[in-house]
Amino acid sequence: MTWSEEFHIPGGTVLIVDFGGQYTHLISRRLRMLGVLTVIVPYNRVSQLDVSRYDAIVLSGSHRSVLESSRDLEDAVARLLRDQRKPILGICFGHQLVSKILGGVVKSGCSEYGRVRVRILTSDPLFVGWSGEEYTWMSHGDCVVEPPKDSVVLAVSENNYIAALRIKALNAPIYTVQFHPEVAHTPKGLRLLDNFIGIARLKRAWTSDLYYARVLSELEKYRNIEGPVVAAVSGGVDSTVSAFIAKRVFRDRLLPLFVDHGLFRMGEPEEVVEMLKSIGLEPVVVNAQDRFLSKLEGVRDCEERRRIIGEEFTRVFDEFMEESKAKLFVQGTTYPDIVESGGTGVSDRIKSHHNVAGLPSWFREKYVVLEPLKYLYKDEVREIAKIIGLPEYFIYRHPFPGPGLAVRVVGEFNRRKLEICRKASAIVESILKKHGLYRQVWQAFAVVGDDMWVGVKGDARRQGYIVTVRVVESVDAMTADYMKLPYDVLDEIAREITRSIDDVTMVTYAVTTKPPSTIEPC
Ligand code: XMP
Repeated sequence: MTWSEEFHIPGGTVLIVDFGGQYTHLISRRLRMLGVLTVIVPYNRVSQLDVSRYDAIVLSGSHRSVLESSRDLEDAVARLLRDQRKPILGICFGHQLVSKILGGVVKSGCSEYGRVRVRILTSDPLFVGWSGEEYTWMSHGDCVVEPPKDSVVLAVSENNYIAALRIKALNAPIYTVQFHPEVAHTPKGLRLLDNFIGIARLKRAWTSDLYYARVLSELEKYRNIEGPVVAAVSGGVDSTVSAFIAKRVFRDRLLPLFVDHGLFRMGEPEEVVEMLKSIGLEPVVVNAQDRFLSKLEGVRDCEERRRIIGEEFTRVFDEFMEESKAKLFVQGTTYPDIVESGGTGVSDRIKSHHNVAGLPSWFREKYVVLEPLKYLYKDEVREIAKIIGLPEYFIYRHPFPGPGLAVRVVGEFNRRKLEICRKASAIVESILKKHGLYRQVWQAFAVVGDDMWVGVKGDARRQGYIVTVRVVESVDAMTADYMKLPYDVLDEIAREITRSIDDVTMVTYAVTTKPPSTIEPC
Protein backbone atom coordinates (compact mmCIF):
# COMPACT_ATOMS: atom_id res chain seq x y z
CA MET A 1 0.00 0.00 0.00
CA THR A 2 1.51 3.26 -0.97
CA TRP A 3 0.30 6.08 1.21
CA SER A 4 -0.22 9.41 -0.47
CA GLU A 5 2.63 10.55 1.73
CA GLU A 6 4.42 8.99 4.67
CA PHE A 7 2.42 9.28 7.85
CA HIS A 8 3.54 12.52 9.43
CA ILE A 9 2.36 14.90 12.16
CA PRO A 10 3.67 18.45 11.65
CA GLY A 11 5.37 19.64 14.84
CA GLY A 12 5.20 16.21 16.45
CA THR A 13 7.27 13.72 14.45
CA VAL A 14 10.58 12.33 15.68
CA LEU A 15 13.13 10.76 13.37
CA ILE A 16 14.91 7.83 15.00
CA VAL A 17 18.17 7.08 13.24
CA ASP A 18 18.75 3.36 13.65
CA PHE A 19 22.29 2.10 14.04
CA GLY A 20 21.06 -1.43 14.67
CA GLY A 21 20.66 -1.35 18.44
CA GLN A 22 18.45 -3.97 20.02
CA TYR A 23 16.27 -1.36 21.72
CA THR A 24 15.47 0.92 18.78
CA HIS A 25 11.81 -0.12 18.64
CA LEU A 26 11.58 0.37 22.36
CA ILE A 27 12.72 4.00 22.02
CA SER A 28 10.07 4.39 19.36
CA ARG A 29 7.29 2.84 21.42
CA ARG A 30 8.14 4.85 24.52
CA LEU A 31 8.05 8.11 22.57
CA ARG A 32 4.72 7.17 21.03
CA MET A 33 3.36 6.38 24.49
CA LEU A 34 4.25 9.97 25.30
CA GLY A 35 2.23 11.25 22.35
CA VAL A 36 4.69 11.89 19.53
CA LEU A 37 4.90 10.04 16.24
CA THR A 38 8.16 8.24 15.49
CA VAL A 39 9.70 7.14 12.23
CA ILE A 40 12.66 4.75 12.29
CA VAL A 41 15.14 5.09 9.45
CA PRO A 42 18.36 3.08 9.11
CA TYR A 43 21.39 5.36 9.23
CA ASN A 44 22.42 4.49 5.70
CA ARG A 45 19.14 5.87 4.35
CA VAL A 46 19.25 9.19 6.19
CA SER A 47 21.06 10.99 3.38
CA GLN A 48 18.08 10.26 1.08
CA LEU A 49 15.60 11.85 3.50
CA ASP A 50 14.18 15.27 3.75
CA VAL A 51 15.17 15.70 7.40
CA SER A 52 13.52 19.10 7.59
CA ARG A 53 10.16 17.29 7.87
CA TYR A 54 11.08 15.97 11.31
CA ASP A 55 10.95 17.92 14.52
CA ALA A 56 13.59 16.16 16.60
CA ILE A 57 16.14 13.41 16.10
CA VAL A 58 17.08 10.46 18.28
CA LEU A 59 20.29 8.55 17.56
CA SER A 60 19.93 4.93 18.64
CA GLY A 61 22.30 2.41 20.17
CA SER A 62 24.16 -0.14 18.10
CA HIS A 63 25.73 -3.57 18.30
CA ARG A 64 28.91 -2.06 16.80
CA SER A 65 31.72 0.01 18.26
CA VAL A 66 32.07 3.71 17.52
CA LEU A 67 35.80 3.07 17.32
CA GLU A 68 35.21 1.13 14.13
CA SER A 69 32.51 3.31 12.63
CA SER A 70 32.85 4.10 8.95
CA ARG A 71 33.57 7.47 7.41
CA ASP A 72 30.15 7.43 5.69
CA LEU A 73 28.34 6.90 8.93
CA GLU A 74 30.22 9.68 10.70
CA ASP A 75 29.75 12.06 7.78
CA ALA A 76 26.01 11.42 7.73
CA VAL A 77 25.68 12.22 11.42
CA ALA A 78 28.09 15.17 11.20
CA ARG A 79 25.80 16.65 8.53
CA LEU A 80 22.78 16.17 10.78
CA LEU A 81 24.55 17.98 13.61
CA ARG A 82 25.82 20.76 11.40
CA ASP A 83 22.93 21.42 9.01
CA GLN A 84 19.81 20.59 10.91
CA ARG A 85 18.74 22.87 13.67
CA LYS A 86 16.88 20.07 15.36
CA PRO A 87 16.86 18.96 18.97
CA ILE A 88 18.86 15.75 19.21
CA LEU A 89 19.07 12.98 21.79
CA GLY A 90 21.91 10.48 21.37
CA ILE A 91 21.57 7.22 23.24
CA CYS A 92 24.50 4.86 24.04
CA PHE A 93 26.22 4.47 20.63
CA GLY A 94 24.51 7.76 19.69
CA HIS A 95 26.12 9.40 22.76
CA GLN A 96 29.59 8.16 21.83
CA LEU A 97 29.16 8.99 18.15
CA VAL A 98 28.14 12.61 18.79
CA SER A 99 31.05 13.00 21.21
CA LYS A 100 33.55 11.54 18.75
CA ILE A 101 32.32 13.66 15.83
CA LEU A 102 32.50 16.84 17.89
CA GLY A 103 36.07 16.20 19.00
CA GLY A 104 35.61 14.19 22.21
CA VAL A 105 37.55 11.00 22.93
CA VAL A 106 35.99 7.54 23.05
CA LYS A 107 37.90 4.48 24.23
CA SER A 108 37.22 0.80 24.68
CA GLY A 109 37.52 -1.35 27.78
CA CYS A 110 35.08 0.48 30.02
CA SER A 111 32.07 -1.76 29.84
CA GLU A 112 29.04 -1.46 32.04
CA TYR A 113 26.19 -3.94 31.78
CA GLY A 114 22.92 -4.06 33.62
CA ARG A 115 21.84 -1.88 36.51
CA VAL A 116 24.26 0.98 37.14
CA ARG A 117 23.78 3.96 39.44
CA VAL A 118 24.34 7.42 38.01
CA ARG A 119 24.93 10.67 39.86
CA ILE A 120 23.52 13.92 38.52
CA LEU A 121 26.15 16.66 38.69
CA THR A 122 24.24 19.65 37.38
CA SER A 123 20.55 20.36 37.41
CA ASP A 124 19.15 20.45 33.91
CA PRO A 125 15.68 20.33 32.34
CA LEU A 126 16.54 16.83 31.01
CA PHE A 127 16.69 15.50 34.57
CA VAL A 128 13.59 17.14 36.02
CA GLY A 129 11.97 14.57 38.29
CA TRP A 130 15.23 12.68 38.92
CA SER A 131 16.85 12.69 42.32
CA GLY A 132 20.60 13.15 42.80
CA GLU A 133 21.24 9.46 42.22
CA GLU A 134 19.18 7.03 40.17
CA TYR A 135 19.52 3.55 38.76
CA THR A 136 19.87 3.21 35.00
CA TRP A 137 20.36 0.36 32.53
CA MET A 138 23.67 0.25 30.69
CA SER A 139 24.90 -1.99 27.91
CA HIS A 140 28.18 -0.72 26.47
CA GLY A 141 31.81 -1.69 25.99
CA ASP A 142 33.23 1.73 25.00
CA CYS A 143 32.80 5.05 26.73
CA VAL A 144 33.46 8.77 26.32
CA VAL A 145 36.59 9.63 28.31
CA GLU A 146 36.90 13.22 27.17
CA PRO A 147 33.78 15.19 26.36
CA PRO A 148 33.73 17.42 23.32
CA LYS A 149 34.55 21.03 24.04
CA ASP A 150 31.54 23.22 24.59
CA SER A 151 29.74 20.44 26.41
CA VAL A 152 28.64 20.02 30.00
CA VAL A 153 28.91 16.71 31.83
CA LEU A 154 25.49 16.35 33.42
CA ALA A 155 25.90 12.95 35.06
CA VAL A 156 28.49 10.25 35.79
CA SER A 157 28.08 6.56 36.52
CA GLU A 158 29.08 4.80 39.73
CA ASN A 159 32.26 3.79 37.85
CA ASN A 160 32.93 7.44 37.11
CA TYR A 161 32.26 7.20 33.39
CA ILE A 162 30.41 10.04 31.67
CA ALA A 163 26.71 9.18 31.71
CA ALA A 164 25.11 12.29 30.20
CA LEU A 165 26.18 15.36 28.27
CA ARG A 166 24.64 18.58 27.07
CA ILE A 167 26.31 20.02 24.00
CA LYS A 168 26.38 23.79 24.01
CA ALA A 169 26.95 26.24 21.18
CA LEU A 170 24.98 24.45 18.53
CA ASN A 171 21.71 25.90 17.41
CA ALA A 172 19.34 23.49 19.07
CA PRO A 173 19.34 21.49 22.30
CA ILE A 174 21.59 18.46 21.96
CA TYR A 175 21.80 15.86 24.69
CA THR A 176 23.50 12.52 24.87
CA VAL A 177 23.16 9.74 27.44
CA GLN A 178 25.26 6.61 27.88
CA PHE A 179 22.45 4.65 29.55
CA HIS A 180 19.21 3.45 28.01
CA PRO A 181 16.27 5.63 29.12
CA GLU A 182 13.92 3.53 26.97
CA VAL A 183 14.19 0.30 28.98
CA ALA A 184 11.99 -0.31 31.99
CA HIS A 185 15.10 -1.05 34.10
CA THR A 186 15.86 2.68 33.98
CA PRO A 187 12.99 3.60 36.33
CA LYS A 188 13.08 7.32 35.51
CA GLY A 189 13.82 6.74 31.82
CA LEU A 190 10.33 7.56 30.63
CA ARG A 191 10.49 10.80 32.59
CA LEU A 192 13.74 11.69 30.82
CA LEU A 193 12.17 11.07 27.40
CA ASP A 194 9.17 13.11 28.47
CA ASN A 195 11.53 15.93 29.50
CA PHE A 196 13.25 15.73 26.11
CA ILE A 197 9.89 16.07 24.34
CA GLY A 198 9.25 19.17 26.44
CA ILE A 199 12.69 20.63 25.74
CA ALA A 200 12.21 19.99 22.01
CA ARG A 201 8.73 21.60 22.20
CA LEU A 202 7.15 18.73 20.34
CA LYS A 203 3.43 18.60 19.73
CA ARG A 204 1.87 15.56 21.44
CA ALA A 205 -0.73 14.73 18.85
CA TRP A 206 -0.20 11.05 18.09
CA THR A 207 -3.34 9.01 18.81
CA SER A 208 -4.81 5.82 17.46
CA ASP A 209 -8.02 7.66 16.50
CA LEU A 210 -6.03 9.97 14.28
CA TYR A 211 -4.42 7.01 12.59
CA TYR A 212 -7.70 5.19 12.15
CA ALA A 213 -9.30 8.15 10.40
CA ARG A 214 -6.28 8.49 8.13
CA VAL A 215 -6.11 4.80 7.24
CA LEU A 216 -9.74 4.77 6.14
CA SER A 217 -9.13 7.64 3.77
CA GLU A 218 -5.98 5.98 2.40
CA LEU A 219 -7.87 2.74 1.71
CA GLU A 220 -10.63 4.68 -0.05
CA LYS A 221 -8.12 5.45 -2.78
CA TYR A 222 -8.11 1.80 -3.82
CA ARG A 223 -11.87 1.47 -4.16
CA ASN A 224 -11.78 1.98 -7.90
CA ILE A 225 -9.65 -1.14 -8.45
CA GLU A 226 -12.24 -3.71 -9.42
CA GLY A 227 -12.81 -7.27 -8.22
CA PRO A 228 -12.82 -9.00 -4.87
CA VAL A 229 -10.41 -7.88 -2.14
CA VAL A 230 -8.71 -10.83 -0.46
CA ALA A 231 -7.75 -10.41 3.21
CA ALA A 232 -5.51 -13.03 4.81
CA VAL A 233 -6.84 -13.79 8.29
CA SER A 234 -5.41 -16.01 11.01
CA GLY A 235 -7.52 -15.05 14.01
CA GLY A 236 -4.73 -12.91 15.43
CA VAL A 237 -5.45 -9.31 16.34
CA ASP A 238 -3.34 -7.82 13.51
CA SER A 239 -4.97 -9.65 10.62
CA THR A 240 -8.45 -9.37 12.15
CA VAL A 241 -8.19 -5.60 12.61
CA SER A 242 -6.80 -5.21 9.07
CA ALA A 243 -9.62 -7.24 7.55
CA PHE A 244 -12.21 -5.48 9.66
CA ILE A 245 -11.00 -2.03 8.55
CA ALA A 246 -10.86 -3.21 4.93
CA LYS A 247 -14.43 -4.50 5.27
CA ARG A 248 -15.57 -1.01 6.23
CA VAL A 249 -14.17 0.32 2.99
CA PHE A 250 -14.68 -2.52 0.50
CA ARG A 251 -17.86 -3.96 2.07
CA ASP A 252 -19.17 -7.04 0.22
CA ARG A 253 -16.15 -7.17 -2.02
CA LEU A 254 -14.00 -8.30 0.91
CA LEU A 255 -13.11 -11.98 0.87
CA PRO A 256 -11.39 -13.12 4.08
CA LEU A 257 -9.08 -16.08 3.50
CA PHE A 258 -8.02 -18.48 6.26
CA VAL A 259 -5.20 -20.83 5.30
CA ASP A 260 -5.02 -23.83 7.62
CA HIS A 261 -1.34 -24.84 7.55
CA GLY A 262 -1.78 -27.59 10.13
CA LEU A 263 0.39 -25.71 12.64
CA PHE A 264 -2.35 -24.12 14.71
CA ARG A 265 -3.09 -24.73 18.36
CA MET A 266 -5.63 -27.33 19.39
CA GLY A 267 -9.12 -26.57 18.07
CA GLU A 268 -7.95 -23.17 16.85
CA PRO A 269 -9.06 -23.22 13.18
CA GLU A 270 -12.66 -24.13 14.07
CA GLU A 271 -12.81 -21.63 16.93
CA VAL A 272 -11.29 -18.80 14.89
CA VAL A 273 -13.61 -19.37 11.95
CA GLU A 274 -16.64 -19.23 14.28
CA MET A 275 -15.40 -16.03 15.90
CA LEU A 276 -14.65 -14.39 12.55
CA LYS A 277 -18.17 -15.27 11.37
CA SER A 278 -19.58 -13.61 14.48
CA ILE A 279 -18.06 -10.28 13.43
CA GLY A 280 -19.16 -10.51 9.82
CA LEU A 281 -15.86 -11.79 8.41
CA GLU A 282 -16.87 -15.28 7.29
CA PRO A 283 -13.66 -16.65 5.77
CA VAL A 284 -13.05 -19.03 2.92
CA VAL A 285 -11.02 -21.83 4.54
CA VAL A 286 -8.28 -23.50 2.52
CA ASN A 287 -7.12 -26.74 4.08
CA ALA A 288 -3.45 -26.83 3.16
CA GLN A 289 -2.27 -29.01 6.05
CA ASP A 290 -0.69 -31.70 3.93
CA ARG A 291 1.00 -29.22 1.62
CA PHE A 292 2.76 -27.55 4.53
CA LEU A 293 3.47 -30.55 6.75
CA SER A 294 4.90 -32.75 4.01
CA LYS A 295 7.37 -30.02 3.07
CA LEU A 296 8.40 -29.50 6.70
CA GLU A 297 8.86 -33.18 7.56
CA GLY A 298 12.47 -33.85 8.61
CA VAL A 299 13.62 -30.20 8.32
CA ARG A 300 15.78 -29.33 11.34
CA ASP A 301 16.63 -25.70 10.74
CA CYS A 302 14.03 -23.22 11.96
CA GLU A 303 14.92 -20.48 9.51
CA GLU A 304 14.57 -23.00 6.70
CA ARG A 305 11.13 -23.91 8.03
CA ARG A 306 10.17 -20.23 8.11
CA ARG A 307 11.30 -19.93 4.50
CA ILE A 308 9.30 -23.00 3.43
CA ILE A 309 6.20 -21.74 5.25
CA GLY A 310 6.50 -18.24 3.77
CA GLU A 311 6.90 -19.68 0.29
CA GLU A 312 3.96 -22.03 0.67
CA PHE A 313 1.72 -19.28 2.03
CA THR A 314 2.57 -17.14 -1.00
CA ARG A 315 1.71 -20.00 -3.36
CA VAL A 316 -1.64 -20.59 -1.69
CA PHE A 317 -2.41 -16.85 -1.71
CA ASP A 318 -1.41 -16.55 -5.36
CA GLU A 319 -3.56 -19.51 -6.44
CA PHE A 320 -6.52 -18.08 -4.54
CA MET A 321 -6.02 -14.58 -5.97
CA GLU A 322 -5.85 -16.00 -9.50
CA GLU A 323 -8.96 -18.13 -9.04
CA SER A 324 -10.99 -15.30 -7.58
CA LYS A 325 -9.62 -12.76 -10.08
CA ALA A 326 -8.58 -10.45 -7.26
CA LYS A 327 -6.00 -7.71 -7.55
CA LEU A 328 -6.07 -6.34 -4.01
CA PHE A 329 -4.55 -8.29 -1.11
CA VAL A 330 -4.81 -7.18 2.53
CA GLN A 331 -2.53 -8.36 5.32
CA GLY A 332 -1.85 -7.36 8.91
CA THR A 333 1.81 -6.38 8.72
CA THR A 334 2.89 -4.12 11.60
CA TYR A 335 5.67 -1.58 12.01
CA PRO A 336 8.44 -3.82 13.41
CA ASP A 337 8.09 -6.10 10.36
CA ILE A 338 8.25 -3.16 7.98
CA VAL A 339 11.34 -1.70 9.61
CA GLU A 340 13.05 -5.09 9.85
CA SER A 341 12.27 -6.04 6.29
CA GLY A 342 14.04 -2.88 5.10
CA GLY A 343 16.89 -5.27 4.41
CA THR A 344 19.53 -2.66 5.16
CA GLY A 345 21.57 -5.00 7.30
CA VAL A 346 22.03 -2.40 10.02
CA SER A 347 20.80 -4.67 12.79
CA ASP A 348 21.74 -8.22 13.60
CA ARG A 349 18.90 -10.28 12.20
CA ILE A 350 17.82 -12.55 15.02
CA LYS A 351 14.85 -14.26 13.40
CA SER A 352 13.15 -13.58 10.12
CA HIS A 353 9.43 -13.16 10.66
CA HIS A 354 7.73 -15.01 7.90
CA ASN A 355 4.91 -12.59 7.08
CA VAL A 356 7.07 -10.01 5.36
CA ALA A 357 9.96 -12.16 4.26
CA GLY A 358 7.30 -14.53 2.94
CA LEU A 359 5.78 -12.08 0.48
CA PRO A 360 8.29 -11.92 -2.33
CA SER A 361 8.67 -8.92 -4.62
CA TRP A 362 6.99 -10.72 -7.54
CA PHE A 363 3.82 -11.02 -5.45
CA ARG A 364 3.96 -7.33 -4.57
CA GLU A 365 4.41 -6.49 -8.24
CA LYS A 366 1.62 -8.77 -9.43
CA TYR A 367 -0.95 -7.57 -6.86
CA VAL A 368 -1.62 -4.45 -4.82
CA VAL A 369 -0.73 -5.34 -1.22
CA LEU A 370 -2.60 -3.27 1.38
CA GLU A 371 -1.11 -3.16 4.87
CA PRO A 372 -3.36 -0.81 6.86
CA LEU A 373 -1.44 -1.30 10.12
CA LYS A 374 2.04 -0.91 8.79
CA TYR A 375 2.90 2.11 10.92
CA LEU A 376 1.64 0.61 14.18
CA TYR A 377 2.93 -1.43 17.09
CA LYS A 378 0.86 -4.22 18.54
CA ASP A 379 -0.39 -2.22 21.51
CA GLU A 380 -1.54 0.47 19.06
CA VAL A 381 -3.29 -2.19 16.97
CA ARG A 382 -5.10 -3.24 20.14
CA GLU A 383 -6.13 0.38 20.67
CA ILE A 384 -7.65 0.43 17.18
CA ALA A 385 -9.33 -2.91 17.91
CA LYS A 386 -11.06 -1.23 20.85
CA ILE A 387 -12.05 1.80 18.75
CA ILE A 388 -13.71 -0.38 16.15
CA GLY A 389 -15.37 -2.50 18.82
CA LEU A 390 -13.79 -5.91 18.19
CA PRO A 391 -14.75 -8.53 20.77
CA GLU A 392 -12.26 -9.12 23.61
CA TYR A 393 -11.59 -12.57 22.21
CA PHE A 394 -9.46 -11.02 19.47
CA ILE A 395 -7.95 -8.22 21.52
CA TYR A 396 -6.61 -10.32 24.38
CA ARG A 397 -5.60 -13.52 22.60
CA HIS A 398 -1.98 -14.36 23.09
CA PRO A 399 0.12 -13.45 20.07
CA PHE A 400 0.86 -16.49 17.95
CA PRO A 401 3.69 -16.63 15.42
CA GLY A 402 2.76 -16.84 11.74
CA PRO A 403 4.70 -20.11 11.32
CA GLY A 404 2.68 -21.45 14.26
CA LEU A 405 3.86 -24.49 16.16
CA ALA A 406 6.67 -25.02 13.63
CA VAL A 407 8.83 -22.67 15.69
CA ARG A 408 8.10 -24.62 18.88
CA VAL A 409 9.33 -27.97 17.65
CA VAL A 410 13.10 -27.93 18.12
CA GLY A 411 15.41 -30.22 16.14
CA GLU A 412 13.93 -32.51 13.55
CA PHE A 413 10.38 -31.59 12.59
CA ASN A 414 7.90 -34.45 12.54
CA ARG A 415 4.20 -34.91 13.07
CA ARG A 416 4.63 -36.82 16.33
CA LYS A 417 6.54 -33.97 17.97
CA LEU A 418 4.04 -31.49 16.52
CA GLU A 419 1.21 -33.40 18.20
CA ILE A 420 3.04 -33.48 21.54
CA CYS A 421 3.66 -29.74 21.29
CA ARG A 422 0.01 -29.09 20.46
CA LYS A 423 -1.38 -31.20 23.30
CA ALA A 424 1.07 -29.92 25.89
CA SER A 425 0.41 -26.29 24.88
CA ALA A 426 -3.33 -26.84 25.25
CA ILE A 427 -2.73 -28.15 28.77
CA VAL A 428 -0.58 -25.15 29.70
CA GLU A 429 -3.22 -22.71 28.41
CA SER A 430 -6.15 -24.44 30.06
CA ILE A 431 -4.46 -24.66 33.47
CA LEU A 432 -3.52 -20.98 33.32
CA LYS A 433 -7.12 -20.11 32.40
CA LYS A 434 -8.41 -22.24 35.27
CA HIS A 435 -6.24 -20.26 37.70
CA GLY A 436 -7.16 -16.89 36.17
CA LEU A 437 -3.58 -16.33 34.97
CA TYR A 438 -4.03 -16.43 31.18
CA ARG A 439 -4.80 -12.73 30.69
CA GLN A 440 -1.80 -11.70 32.81
CA VAL A 441 0.76 -13.28 30.53
CA TRP A 442 2.03 -12.42 27.06
CA GLN A 443 2.44 -15.98 25.83
CA ALA A 444 2.24 -19.45 27.35
CA PHE A 445 3.18 -22.58 25.48
CA ALA A 446 5.09 -25.85 25.37
CA VAL A 447 8.16 -26.75 23.37
CA VAL A 448 9.48 -30.14 22.40
CA GLY A 449 12.99 -31.01 21.21
CA ASP A 450 14.93 -34.17 20.44
CA ASP A 451 16.34 -34.76 23.91
CA MET A 452 14.95 -37.74 25.79
CA TRP A 453 14.65 -38.58 29.46
CA VAL A 454 14.26 -42.03 30.91
CA GLY A 455 11.05 -42.43 32.79
CA VAL A 456 8.94 -45.02 34.50
CA LYS A 457 5.44 -45.38 33.22
CA GLY A 458 3.21 -48.16 34.46
CA ASP A 459 6.18 -49.94 36.10
CA ALA A 460 8.06 -50.04 32.82
CA ARG A 461 11.17 -48.09 31.97
CA ARG A 462 10.78 -45.96 28.86
CA GLN A 463 12.49 -43.20 26.97
CA GLY A 464 10.28 -40.18 26.59
CA TYR A 465 10.46 -36.63 25.29
CA ILE A 466 11.31 -33.60 27.40
CA VAL A 467 8.68 -30.86 27.18
CA THR A 468 9.72 -27.34 28.14
CA VAL A 469 7.02 -24.97 29.33
CA ARG A 470 7.52 -21.25 28.57
CA VAL A 471 5.26 -18.65 30.17
CA VAL A 472 6.37 -15.05 29.68
CA GLU A 473 5.26 -11.61 30.70
CA SER A 474 5.96 -8.78 28.29
CA VAL A 475 4.48 -5.57 26.98
CA ASP A 476 5.79 -5.69 23.44
CA ALA A 477 7.85 -8.89 23.01
CA MET A 478 11.04 -6.85 22.77
CA THR A 479 11.98 -7.74 26.29
CA ALA A 480 10.31 -10.44 28.36
CA ASP A 481 10.45 -12.01 31.77
CA TYR A 482 9.38 -15.52 32.70
CA MET A 483 6.33 -15.68 34.91
CA LYS A 484 6.98 -16.63 38.51
CA LEU A 485 4.24 -19.24 38.51
CA PRO A 486 3.19 -20.67 41.86
CA TYR A 487 4.72 -24.12 42.45
CA ASP A 488 1.33 -25.79 42.70
CA VAL A 489 0.39 -24.48 39.22
CA LEU A 490 3.71 -25.71 37.79
CA ASP A 491 3.16 -29.01 39.50
CA GLU A 492 -0.33 -29.33 38.02
CA ILE A 493 0.99 -28.56 34.52
CA ALA A 494 3.83 -31.10 34.81
CA ARG A 495 1.56 -33.84 36.14
CA GLU A 496 -1.11 -33.29 33.53
CA ILE A 497 1.35 -33.27 30.63
CA THR A 498 3.11 -36.48 31.70
CA ARG A 499 -0.20 -38.13 32.57
CA SER A 500 -2.00 -37.41 29.33
CA ILE A 501 0.80 -37.54 26.77
CA ASP A 502 2.20 -41.01 26.70
CA ASP A 503 5.70 -40.40 25.43
CA VAL A 504 6.60 -37.42 27.61
CA THR A 505 8.63 -38.31 30.70
CA MET A 506 9.95 -34.93 31.80
CA VAL A 507 8.61 -31.38 32.00
CA THR A 508 10.93 -28.41 32.54
CA TYR A 509 10.18 -24.72 33.01
CA ALA A 510 12.12 -22.04 31.08
CA VAL A 511 13.42 -19.40 33.50
CA THR A 512 15.48 -17.14 31.25
CA THR A 513 14.51 -13.60 30.42
CA LYS A 514 14.67 -11.95 26.98
CA PRO A 515 17.43 -10.89 26.46
CA PRO A 516 19.60 -12.94 26.54
CA SER A 517 17.06 -15.53 25.42
CA THR A 518 14.24 -15.03 22.92
CA ILE A 519 10.62 -15.90 23.59
CA GLU A 520 10.26 -18.68 21.03
CA PRO A 521 12.86 -21.44 21.09
CA CYS A 522 13.83 -21.12 17.47
P1 XMP B 1 11.11 -13.89 19.81
O1 XMP B 1 11.11 -15.38 19.82
O2 XMP B 1 11.94 -13.31 18.71
O3 XMP B 1 9.62 -13.47 19.49
O4 XMP B 1 11.45 -13.32 21.16
C1 XMP B 1 9.08 -12.19 19.64
C2 XMP B 1 7.61 -12.25 19.32
O5 XMP B 1 7.45 -12.54 17.92
C3 XMP B 1 6.75 -13.76 17.74
N1 XMP B 1 7.42 -14.49 16.66
C4 XMP B 1 6.96 -14.52 15.39
N2 XMP B 1 5.85 -13.98 14.83
N3 XMP B 1 6.47 -14.88 12.74
C5 XMP B 1 5.61 -14.17 13.50
O6 XMP B 1 4.59 -13.70 12.97
C6 XMP B 1 7.61 -15.45 13.21
O7 XMP B 1 8.36 -16.09 12.49
C7 XMP B 1 7.85 -15.26 14.62
N4 XMP B 1 8.88 -15.65 15.46
C8 XMP B 1 8.56 -15.16 16.70
C9 XMP B 1 6.84 -14.50 19.06
O8 XMP B 1 5.75 -15.37 19.24
C10 XMP B 1 6.88 -13.36 20.06
O9 XMP B 1 5.60 -12.89 20.41
